[in-house]
Amino acid sequence: MAKLVGTLCSTHVPAIGPAIVAKKQEDPYWKPFFDGFHAVHDWVAKVQPDVAVIFYNDHGLNFWLDALPTFAIGCAKEYFTKDEGWGIPRFTDFDGYEDLSWHIVNAVKAADFDPVTCQEMYFDHALAVPMELTWPGVQRPIRIVPIEVNTVLFPTPTGKRCFNLGRAVGKAIESFPTDEKILVMGTGGLSHQLEGTRAGFINRKFDIEFIESLPTNPEWGTQFSPEEIVENAGTQGMEMINWLAARGTIQGDAKTIHVNYHIPISDTASCVLIQEPA
Ligand code: DHB
Ligand code: FE
Repeated sequence: MAKLVGTLCSTHVPAIGPAIVAKKQEDPYWKPFFDGFHAVHDWVAKVQPDVAVIFYNDHGLNFWLDALPTFAIGCAKEYFTKDEGWGIPRFTDFDGYEDLSWHIVNAVKAADFDPVTCQEMYFDHALAVPMELTWPGVQRPIRIVPIEVNTVLFPTPTGKRCFNLGRAVGKAIESFPTDEKILVMGTGGLSHQLEGTRAGFINRKFDIEFIESLPTNPEWGTQFSPEEIVENAGTQGMEMINWLAARGTIQGDAKTIHVNYHIPISDTASCVLIQEPA
């Protein structure tokens, strides 16, 4: 059966894309952020995943406010990035993994989740940036299964619902009849708010408590309603529910292998976190 090798959660700020293209890794503003990815490169080289299953949110590129799925799973053979209006250069295309996508779709339906299934999907910075940070400038040696979560339009799913979706996805991975190594990713966060009177809001205390709770007490994060997440982590801090979905795929306790929390990148409390099953 396939093996879940661990989870990799990362911030997905759009400005990271141009910083990668302009090679600003050693620039004083960017260095503390990019330095956090050396350990990611080492870890990925060590575990050598064959597949990445990615919980992310779309920001209006593929889905718009007129029809925004709570959960959508890509079931395509290939995927593409598109310019979402920031002028960000396109990153290389992504190979899909249809068999695993449909296996996950069927498994989560049996567990009472009803995702939209997509034969075609375009990615914005939420998926492209963490992938480029993890496999910079190389042909990615993986196939992907993208899972979109609505974090942008109320009513969003709860963190608890996302965590339980992660549970179902994790079980699906463990029942997939190949010997492939599967990495689960979650993107976005941590605390940030881009608009309104609280624009620039960051909550370090909340973020740190969230990070520290994930290995053995993810229920700390799932206790919050969407409104409470917005209050504590900002409107876009809602993206932490993607992290809860990723954490849910590890059925028991997790252990943190690497964490780099750095404030701020653009308006965001940035973080990259690697966890493995304990
Ligand atoms: C920023 C962060 C995000 O998560 C996003 O989707 C867009 C912008 C930012 O901090 O600039
Ligand atoms: Fe975002």
